[in-house]
Order: sequence, then C-alpha cells, then structure tokens
Amino acid sequence: MRNPSRPLSPLILGIETSCDETAASVVGRGADGRPEILSNVVLSQVEEHAAFGGVVPEIAARAHVDAISGIVEAALGDAGVNLDDLSAVAATLGPGLVGGLIVGAMTGKAIAAARGLGFVGVNHLEGHALTPRLTDGVAYPYLMLLVSGGHTQILLVRGLGDYERWGTTIDDALGEAFDKTAKLLGLPEQGGAAVEKSARGGDARRFGLPRPMRGEARLDFSFSGLKTAVRQAAQAAMPLTAQDVADLCASFQAAAADSLADRIARALTRFGAEYPGLADKVLAVAGGVAANAAIRLRLEDACLAAGVRLVAPPLKLCGDNAAMIAYAGLERFEAGRLDGMDAPVRSRWPLDEAAVPLIGFGRRGAKA
Ligand code: KG4
Ligand code: ZN
Repeated sequence: MRNPSRPLSPLILGIETSCDETAASVVGRGADGRPEILSNVVLSQVEEHAAFGGVVPEIAARAHVDAISGIVEAALGDAGVNLDDLSAVAATLGPGLVGGLIVGAMTGKAIAAARGLGFVGVNHLEGHALTPRLTDGVAYPYLMLLVSGGHTQILLVRGLGDYERWGTTIDDALGEAFDKTAKLLGLPEQGGAAVEKSARGGDARRFGLPRPMRGEARLDFSFSGLKTAVRQAAQAAMPLTAQDVADLCASFQAAAADSLADRIARALTRFGAEYPGLADKVLAVAGGVAANAAIRLRLEDACLAAGVRLVAPPLKLCGDNAAMIAYAGLERFEAGRLDGMDAPVRSRWPLDEAAVPLIGFGRRGAKA
C-alpha cells in the first residue's frame, strides 16, 4: 500500500497507553538515514477524568480498550500503510498505569504475533529521551532535561539503553507544582499553561518566594516547598484580586525558573567537564513544561553561557505521543533488541536502574 518510490526501512508501528492518552504512530527510516514520522495520532482522555480531579486508572484502562483499535487504524491510514508493510511493532511497557499498559502491550503483541513481526517493548522515558534524535538527529552523547507532570530529571544519554540519571526531584515534579499552583489559586483553566497566561500580567518581584535547592552541589530538584510558600502567600493576601493572582503566578514562575536554571547550569558545567572534546554539546528538553516561554528563556541563557546548544522538539512531540515510542522501537529494532511475547509491563521502570530511588519522586507514580 505504501508508495514504493519512497521506501522506508525499517517501518515501525508505535503504541502508547501508559497514562491518559491513547496514541499510535508510524515512523520509518528514509533512504537518507533520517527518520520520518508518517503519522502521529493522539487521543486525550482529559474529559473522561475531569470530574475526578485526576487520572482514574480504571477509567483510563477502559477508555484505552475502547479507543485502541480505532487509533491504530487511524495511524496506519494516515501513514498510508497496512500491517504487511511494517517491520515491527513497538509498545510502551512502562512506567505507567498497569491497566493501560496491558491494553497497549497486548494490542502490540497481538498484531506482531498475527503478522509474524518483531515486537519491541519500550520504556516511555526512553521515548522522551530519544525524541531529539527523531526531531533533530542529535548524536550521542547528550544531556536531557525531562520536565513533565510526572518527572523532573536530568539524564545523560550516552547511547541506546545507556542512561545516567544526574538529578531528579525529591518531591513534586515541576509540572505538578504548576498544576497545584493553578488549582490553589482557582485559575479558570487547568495546569501550567494557565499559570503562564496569568503570570504575563503579573509582577514577579512582589512575592519573595524560595528558590529550592539553589546552590546545592547535587543536581536534584525540589518544588513542594515552593508550592507551600505560594499557598501561604495567597492566604496572607486573601481575598485575592485578579492582580494578586497574576502577581502570585509570576512570582511562582520566576522562582521555579530560577531554581531550574541553577540546577541546569551546574549540570552543564559537569557535562562540559566530562566531555571536554565533544564539539557539539547539546541539552535537549522534553515534557509539557518545556512549553513555558519564561522557562525556555532561562534554559537558553544557561546554554548560551555554557556553550551548549539547546534542542527543544516541537510541542506536539514534547508531550506524550506514540511517535517517540515508534522511534525508540526503530532504534531498538535496528540494534536487534527485540522482546519476547512474555515481556511484562512495569508500573515502575527507571531508565537508570543503578540510580538510587528518592522518596516521593514525581506525582501519581504513573504519568511520565
Ligand atoms: O509531558 P506532559 O504533556 O504530560 C506528562 O505529564 O507526561 O506534561 C504535562 C505537564 C502538566 O503538569 C502541565 O501543567 C505542564 O506540563 N505544562 C506547563 C505548561 N504547559 C504544560 N507548565 C508550565 N507552563 C506551561 N506553559
Ligand atoms: Zn511522558
């Protein structure tokens, strides 16, 4: 079915169901060696969970069951390929909500088994970590900042399957701190984007909020104290006018960006010291928080000062999607790293298995 004048090989179907998005994508390698995204379909379950104030695992799993066949068909259709054109099927096996993971894993395995294709089990975090290779062809090694609703991590990406975690949050993820700030200030819309919007009309110097971890030698993060400080400042200023809310949002965002920039500056110094001869030093970002313009600006400054190139994939590929899973599957397929039909799903699955788990890292234990 696919136009043979532009053969893509290998050609991988990727499936992502680890949290509240049902997603499928087809990614292939072109004759010029560049990966190509042929389709990228994402169905968000946000509305199903809205009334509950968070992702409900049981509802998520059922919604994945309802949606998965249609989403896979849409991804194949958009790509103009059928199952016989594929080289392998990749599905997220973790970390995430087990019910959803099982739906994606079983779908991927069933397609692979029925068509005699290889199956690749992908770590969702590896999907994020390899995205700059998909979008910008970044060469190993590079430094990665993953800032989502579930994770705040600095990772050294040395090669496929070879990751070293340099820092992580010891309590809340940064996206989670944004989400909670939006909620406690009663913003009409949810999440970090609402905080950013309100902050545009605010005075970032009005409230003196803490800059967690600033100056600490270790590269970890902490955001729960900052969130508490916002709550206390809000309580002291009650009743809040729209201007108070904007000033609180701006002050919070500035404190979060300061804290992040401090950690990143240190990580870049270490990166430079560990790879003095590396000509093209790259810091890549992923995760929804990377959409924040104030944060991006601070990251750009830190990179400029350290002589490092900042690579920020398009927003659609920063958040959760299946193209990143298909691409990780593609690299694994090319390396001959296929998985058996007995490969299990894993609710917890650190990329760096040697890293010491820190208490309370990230929210929900699921969303990455
Ligand atoms: O990566 P993502 O789409 O989903 C996962 O958590 O995996 O990230 C979502 C997170 C949410 O916590 C959301 O509040 C945050 O990214 N976010 C933002 C912005 N847009 C999304 N945080 C700050 N500023 C933004 N503009
Ligand atoms: Zn994610």
